[in-house]
Amino acid sequence: MISPENSGCVEQAAEIAREAGALALRYFKRGVKTEYKGQDEVDLVTEADRASEKLIVERLRTIFPSHDIVGEEGTRTSSGTGEYRWYVDPLDGTTNFAHGFPVFCVSLGLERAPSGEDKQGQLIAGVIYDPTRDELFTAERGRGANLNGAPIRVSRTKTLGESLIATGFPSKKRHENPNIHFYQEITLHSHGVRRAGAAALDLAYTACGRFDGYWEFNLNPWDTSAGILLVEEAGGKVTQFNGAPFEIRTPREIMASNGLIHRELIERFARIFAREVDELPSVAEYVKQRYS
Ligand code: IPD
Ligand code: CA
Ligand code: CA
Repeated sequence: MISPENSGCVEQAAEIAREAGALALRYFKRGVKTEYKGQDEVDLVTEADRASEKLIVERLRTIFPSHDIVGEEGTRTSSGTGEYRWYVDPLDGTTNFAHGFPVFCVSLGLERAPSGEDKQGQLIAGVIYDPTRDELFTAERGRGANLNGAPIRVSRTKTLGESLIATGFPSKKRHENPNIHFYQEITLHSHGVRRAGAAALDLAYTACGRFDGYWEFNLNPWDTSAGILLVEEAGGKVTQFNGAPFEIRTPREIMASNGLIHRELIERFARIFAREVDELPSVAEYVKQRYS
């Protein structure tokens, strides 16, 4: 739970996320120029990402001068105490945003630093704001999760076969990523898999029951910190693909669910890793039958 000196921080973060979301929405309506972060990567960035991060960082520094900040667009501030750290994704869903596809959000997660033997911090507050739907997701450790002020819960779906699941594909090193095999298998064993393009919203939607589960490879703490707390506080579960505890500071794999389908998801993933999978239909076979 949040200490007395940070009480009210969810409300303050929510106000900042609303302001940043409104700023992003103005850029979205006007249209923005797209830039590439690296030479060989399809990792997009726009002036809206940078303007949103600047606004968020200014506000956080004013309200919480002793907190550290790690922002996707390069912010690294260090207060000296290192007790609290904000993870900032100023615009999650940049590729959608740059193409005029209205699925993006602002995500702010607050972590309390590791103590003693523990190498991982504890997430204590999270806020995700979707300005296109005016939906504000908030969570505070031990106090539940909310959507626009009303409590939310994960879904009650009991089996993977009856589930709607979400995933995402990395923009960096995409040639090296095997997620298409997982996509194929989970598609064949569920009601379907969605790739909406904003990891923080995928987690927020899992928290409020729109999705029953979600997985992704290679994310960063700014993508996941707020969403993880939302899922946990809404009664769900977040782990690595093998069921091991999720580690916010080394977030290579994330699997989130309503808890009820978690075991089944882990078992299905283990089978995919063991190559016990349905063969992908071959293009050659399809072409042969196409006009017959
Ligand atoms: C991306 C989105 C996307 C996920 C990517 C992330 P960004 O974040 O969350 O859904 O699949 O891997 O990098 O770059 O739009 O903030
Ligand atoms: Ca981003
Ligand atoms: Ca992101």
